[in-house]
Amino acid sequence: MTDNLLIQEAIKARENAVAPFSKFKVGAALRTKAGRVFHGCNVENCTYGLTVCAERVALLSALAAGERQFDAIVVVTQSDEPGTPCGPCRQLMWEYCGDIDVTLAGLKGQRVDYKLSTLFPHPFYFSLED
Ligand code: THU
Repeated sequence: MTDNLLIQEAIKARENAVAPFSKFKVGAALRTKAGRVFHGCNVENCTYGLTVCAERVALLSALAAGERQFDAIVVVTQSDEPGTPCGPCRQLMWEYCGDIDVTLAGLKGQRVDYKLSTLFPHPFYFSLED
């Protein structure tokens, strides 16, 4: 189960969001099984299409640091009903994190807890070893 500390980390991560176009700031905190925490925030771009979501920034940063085992992610948004990860982020999280705990949180203490498999049932996946 995700603790409040990870939510605080995601709130901190959100402060670095680069969202001049949407004004919708998102923060993510991804925890490894060993307890290391990686921050991510959304980074927008004037082409719009090159925008990267907070979840993917956290995940790619953790992978680039050599981490491969994850157990929880928190995503913080400013909406009253906490926002849910987009489809591409769900796909990537599934591929690299498996069925982790996903907590969606708001800035006013709201939180909803899911397993990734609930948010992303019937994923596409193949293994080169099969
Ligand atoms: N965004 C995220 O960071 N994560 C999501 O799962 C959904 C959307 C960002 C992208 C864009 O900068 C802003 O939210 C509005 O779509």
